[in-house]
Amino acid sequence: MTKNARRKDRRHPPLLPEKNYPTTNDVLHGRPRALKHVLQAQQFDRHDIIALFTLANRLEREEYDIMRRKVLVWVGDEESSRTYTSFSMAALRLGGSVIPLWRSLSSMAKKGESVEDTISSLSAMGAAVIALRDPDEHAIWRAALVSQVPVINAGSGSIQHPTQGLLDLYTIYRAGFELRTLSIAMVGDLLYGRTTNSLAYLLSKFVDNVNGSGPTLYLVSPDHLRMKGDLRYYLHEKGVCVHETNDLESIIDKVDIVYQTRAQKERTDDASVHQGLSPYILSNKLVSRMRHRARIMHPLPRNEELPREIDGTPQQLYLEQMSYGVLLRMALLAHILAPKSAA
Ligand code: NCD
Repeated sequence: MTKNARRKDRRHPPLLPEKNYPTTNDVLHGRPRALKHVLQAQQFDRHDIIALFTLANRLEREEYDIMRRKVLVWVGDEESSRTYTSFSMAALRLGGSVIPLWRSLSSMAKKGESVEDTISSLSAMGAAVIALRDPDEHAIWRAALVSQVPVINAGSGSIQHPTQGLLDLYTIYRAGFELRTLSIAMVGDLLYGRTTNSLAYLLSKFVDNVNGSGPTLYLVSPDHLRMKGDLRYYLHEKGVCVHETNDLESIIDKVDIVYQTRAQKERTDDASVHQGLSPYILSNKLVSRMRHRARIMHPLPRNEELPREIDGTPQQLYLEQMSYGVLLRMALLAHILAPKSAA
């Protein structure tokens, strides 16, 4: 490959005609529009997403200490490895600090303190931003209602994980795929999985009803773990091309991205729900049938659905997914915390 060809290869596909790209100034000073709380993926429009991606690209190369003397407080009522660490890395790389408040060690555990009082206290004490992970899908809304500072949904029950959706989309874009023509399979437990919900909402923003282009989604799951009806209806209304199937093999060679997911066993007491998922396990044999440039993503943690043998294949994208995640979260924090322009 020549040097020029390599350079061209590494270029990201255009998201907008060049003249419509926001400038750094636009991005950081409240345009396209100021961002307060991050509650759900569908709150972002295509311009917001492009602004975040533009900023994330820049933050890969530029130092930016917008969080100097600012504290991100993590309120965790559920286990987290990647999301907690990723938010922490992002805040530290922007010059900020992080205070983790895990529910089991907080006054919410046994002293009966409410989410509302916890969030109000943290904002009164000077947190710059609060990231909240809670198995109760309503907690993030209760937090946003009382918080004087921005709150970010870091995972709400089985409903949403908007920052994971954003980093997933950023990873797809950075891997060189055109979002307007992307074809993606979401595989596994689509009923209880929250990352696939948020990613699906975000992909719907890339439908162009004028010229009839847009991403194609293959939803691959057993019937009883299909994606929730309200979201499938939303995708239908937005004009997203959706195919549902329970046969992974039949679509493996049709997609650019295979987005594999874990059985969310902790979300239900009925163990039988997650039996019979073996047809949804990836294998080297299945991977060898994928398109030449196609890639595999997974929000992690993984169980048997993504055997370690896949890690060595050129299709593996889940390690880069985590590193793009830090950049995307840096962009999000910078966007939220940037001083608003007087205009
Ligand atoms: C996911 C989550 O917590 O929803 N993980 C993550 O945030 N990276 C996926 C999962 O737990 O299966």
